[in-house]
Amino acid sequence: MTVDLSYSENNVTPKDQNSLKESVIMPEPQLRSIAVEKAYRKGDLKIPVLRGIDQKVFEGDFLSIIGQSGSGKSTLLHLFGLLDHPDIGEIHLNGERIDDLPAKTRDQLRNHVFGFIFQFYHLLPELSLLENVMVPMMIRHSMWDFWKQKRKFKDQAKEIISKVGLDHRFTHKPSELSGGEMQRAAIARALVLKPKILLADEPTGNLDSKTGGEIIELLNTLNDLDKLTVVMVTHDEAIAKEAKNQVRIVEGRIERLATSKVGVA
Ligand SMILES: Nc1ncnc2c1ncn2[C@@H]1O[C@H](COP(=O)(O)OP(=O)(O)O)[C@@H](O)[C@H]1O
Ligand SMILES: [Mg+2]
Repeated sequence: MTVDLSYSENNVTPKDQNSLKESVIMPEPQLRSIAVEKAYRKGDLKIPVLRGIDQKVFEGDFLSIIGQSGSGKSTLLHLFGLLDHPDIGEIHLNGERIDDLPAKTRDQLRNHVFGFIFQFYHLLPELSLLENVMVPMMIRHSMWDFWKQKRKFKDQAKEIISKVGLDHRFTHKPSELSGGEMQRAAIARALVLKPKILLADEPTGNLDSKTGGEIIELLNTLNDLDKLTVVMVTHDEAIAKEAKNQVRIVEGRIERLATSKVGVA
């Protein structure tokens, strides 16, 4: 497999990077993909989707990744969040390679480091908003542990629900919430275990532009006030522009678009 030399950082191995760090003081990216490639197979046909993605995400950044439908945005987000493996290349967290860890370690890391939100919310219809937000706590703890600490967990869930502006909706079922409220609920659920990085896959894709704008405003507030790192993929240019930094996926590679106060690759 050939490596595209125009991406000079592709060719810096983690070892080189460490020696480089010793001589030059530079911030370590919190999350990074190095020369990541991914293809899907359809019968005998191999369809390349990502063809060498180098992207750094620094702590406290809000990075949007724009791309047309089918350009590989969800694929890339899944690789960042350890939901899938790259064919070639590496994913690093705080300078350590994480894509090649044993499955159990990857699962633990994923649950501790990443929060996910999606276009279609994926709330459980039978549960109230409060119960939906508490689901990750139930999954993380044993039954006994959960019941012992239920009051504390409930308070923590209520606090995060208030933060996303839904404190008047604790007992509502998802069917009794609007689209924007369901996405807020999904954000609360994603944040209840205090992840370091929020991965957002078309979070406004099912919302009108005003409501979508409010969701991005909420993500920006969480990014500003709580220093939550956000990586969002979207096909919507207007939404993407609301992030601090923007890049585009074109033909399986990253094109950089804008930079503001936080450095980005
Ligand atoms: N599990 C899969 N098996 C086969 N092809 C897939 C799979 N997932 C995605 N693809 C294909 O890979 C390409 C990129 O998909 P995706 O990452 O979902 O794009 P985006 O999120 O930008 O719309 C698309 O052509 C899609 O059909
Ligand atoms: Mg997608």
